[in-house]
Amino acid sequence: MKKLILAIETSCDETSIALVEATGTIKEPKFKIVENLVASQIKIHRPFGGVVPNLAKREHIKNLPILYKKLSAKYYPLKPDLIAVTAGPGLEPALWAGIEFAKILGKELKIPVLGANHLEGHLYSFLLAKSYILNPKPFPAIGLIVSGGHTTLLLLKDLKTRKKLGETRDDAVGEAFDKVARILELPYPGGPEVEKIAKKGKVSIEFPRPMIHQKNYDFSFSGLKTSVLYYLRDNPEANKANIAASFQKAAIDVLTTKTMRAIKEYGAKSVLLSGGVAANKALRKELEKNAKKIGAKLLVADFAYNTDNAVMIAVGAYINLLGKKKYPLIAKGDMNV
Ligand code: KG4
Ligand code: ZN
Repeated sequence: MKKLILAIETSCDETSIALVEATGTIKEPKFKIVENLVASQIKIHRPFGGVVPNLAKREHIKNLPILYKKLSAKYYPLKPDLIAVTAGPGLEPALWAGIEFAKILGKELKIPVLGANHLEGHLYSFLLAKSYILNPKPFPAIGLIVSGGHTTLLLLKDLKTRKKLGETRDDAVGEAFDKVARILELPYPGGPEVEKIAKKGKVSIEFPRPMIHQKNYDFSFSGLKTSVLYYLRDNPEANKANIAASFQKAAIDVLTTKTMRAIKEYGAKSVLLSGGVAANKALRKELEKNAKKIGAKLLVADFAYNTDNAVMIAVGAYINLLGKKKYPLIAKGDMNV
């Protein structure tokens, strides 16, 4: 099968349109990224310290035609075989903006519109990683999705068969980074800011590592965030870089320990790391180092494809097309992987 996919992502605060050429079978799919356009809304939401859903929707509605015009002018005449659009999970008003745009465009171009799952997009983004392309034999694999809304560990037998091993019981790890950033008075989005100042600090504070010793694959990050809050309340003069470094280390330790345990239990050959927090260099390094020790490889896409983007939506839609799986074109906040 060969498909030129026009993909649309509007689940949160990035408006993205991508053009991806997908070929190959479910055993070895291949992707050529023709274009990846992203309009970031960081500046719009920054004064509010987080994403405002209705503002996000307004911006998506404004940005989508601009990005599409740019794409269709560059690749004239633009003739994709299908449109893939994120249906969930995400902010419903934001998702609707993308879905409505996709439907109108589908009618205009007379091509099918397929819904895609945002988390599957993240999960399958490892298919874009150079180390995967060089050696496309990752299975069995442990998938670790770490984003602003999810922290999920999965076992993948192949691209069609997977099982959820565990997930967070409260905050997602990205959310914990964002909340700690707010506690430390760093701007939104907090994750990259925490990472930036953590580099200047020392791991000097012993924050808790929630659920690290529990023999399951669930996570909890809300208590860790609260410990940071109390620590700063009790030590107002403390060095913020040290707090950031110590928090980051605690979060990474939990993620790494549980992922390594899953690799051992299931004899996995690789870890598929994805989601916005996958952009964190310290996390990538720690997972890579520990996986190597037990004979597994870390597969993670380039930084541009960790945070939200439409390329991964094209990838996810193609995998579902190959697997004959369909998502309804209804915006949903809670679509699981
Ligand atoms: O996948 P994503 O772009 O959106 C969701 O699907 O949620 O992930 C965004 C999350 C945010 O919480 C952001 O702070 C976090 O990923 N993030 C990071 C880094 N870059 C983004 N967290 C830690 N270190 C980073 N470098
Ligand atoms: Zn995401």
